[in-house]
Amino acid sequence: MKIPCFSCFSPSTTEKNNNNDYPDEEINDGSFRLFTHKQLKLATRNFHSSEKVGEGGFGSVFKGKLVDGSFVAVKVLSVEVESMRGEREFVAELATLANIKHQNLVSLKGCCVEGAYRYLVYDYMENNSLYNTFLGSEERRMRFNWEIRKDVSIGVARGLDFLHEELKPHIVHRDIKAKNILLDRNFIPKVSDFGLAKLLRDETSYISTRVAGTLGYLAPEYANSGQVSRKSDVYSFGVLLLQIVSGLAVVDAYQDIERFIVEKAWAAYQSNDLLKLVDPMLNMNFPEEEALKFLKVGLLCVQETAKLRPRMSEVVEKLTKDIDMRDVHISKPGFVADLRNIRIKQQNLNSSEESSSAGATFTSSISSSANLARYLLD
Ligand SMILES: Nc1ncnc2c1ncn2[C@@H]1O[C@H](COP(=O)(O)OP(=O)(O)OP(=O)(O)O)[C@@H](O)[C@H]1O
Ligand SMILES: [Mg+2]
Repeated sequence: MKIPCFSCFSPSTTEKNNNNDYPDEEINDGSFRLFTHKQLKLATRNFHSSEKVGEGGFGSVFKGKLVDGSFVAVKVLSVEVESMRGEREFVAELATLANIKHQNLVSLKGCCVEGAYRYLVYDYMENNSLYNTFLGSEERRMRFNWEIRKDVSIGVARGLDFLHEELKPHIVHRDIKAKNILLDRNFIPKVSDFGLAKLLRDETSYISTRVAGTLGYLAPEYANSGQVSRKSDVYSFGVLLLQIVSGLAVVDAYQDIERFIVEKAWAAYQSNDLLKLVDPMLNMNFPEEEALKFLKVGLLCVQETAKLRPRMSEVVEKLTKDIDMRDVHISKPGFVADLRNIRIKQQNLNSSEESSSAGATFTSSISSSANLARYLLD
């Protein structure tokens, strides 16, 4: 693996840490920085519970304030250190990720690696995630008019297009979902956690027996055989796009019957009534043709056959240009029915496993692990 030049980091904090709590914070030129544990403790008021802004599969996220007055989000990695790469390689990979800058990607500012501690430091996003700020309640959704939804969708598509097609080598995100779309103070969407799935999950090949992602956003080929590709991200983006237009959850259960958003959208498409999917919270204030186009793009992205799904650059083009989608052919979406079968099998195998919501990330070896059941059970 190529180790990036360490001189691009701010001066090492460990060398001159004696009488100053913030030895390197005067030098803030935007390059990747190594923070000390002490600095992060000070920034987050000793990781005070009132500064906690979220909790994810890898650990908690805290809001912090640096001495220069800027705000950061500090992600505490609770991943076992043994399962991670060596310290130097870990920092080097993060530095590479920190060099990736785009208006629709969350910027990684630096990290802290001290003994067993591992922290990632990001720009703080005032409006939290699409999951927290947009989904979940009618009041929240009401704040997102059509124009905002459109801009958010296009912004996310551009961020992904950048990762997939402009970046060399490209990055497959692997975990596109509403929780990983953060919103800055102006509601500009920023894709977060890119590059992390690979970095933290100790994978060696693209065709993996391990699956990382979230139930409902997972492309069937990824869920079934761990096959990761840009097209599996496109699938997840399609699910997200359907959510942004409809305001629906990725999966809901009614009288013990689960329905995935993809199934609902396909049923509406087949009955030639896609518009009924548009969020009622928009109060009919949306351009019909455009909303239809967005839903059709969503459906194109979730087609079962990965090859038929558009590339992200094509998605951006379709969403931004005046393209007539009336006669476009859309084939059947990939359903996650297989996941349900796995769920049933796992339920039989281990009915006492702890439960988890459909929104949680899972990482597991499909063939053997009881962990999978933990993530798949309701
Ligand atoms: N840069 C940030 N600025 C503001 N809030 C953030 C930032 N990063 C994360 N958060 C908040 O912390 C939460 C947890 O983030 P994290 O990435 O650890 O997990 P997740 O993406 O929510 O879920 P999972 O671990 O299942 O993938 C996010 O959902 C978001 O609410
Ligand atoms: Mg995240």
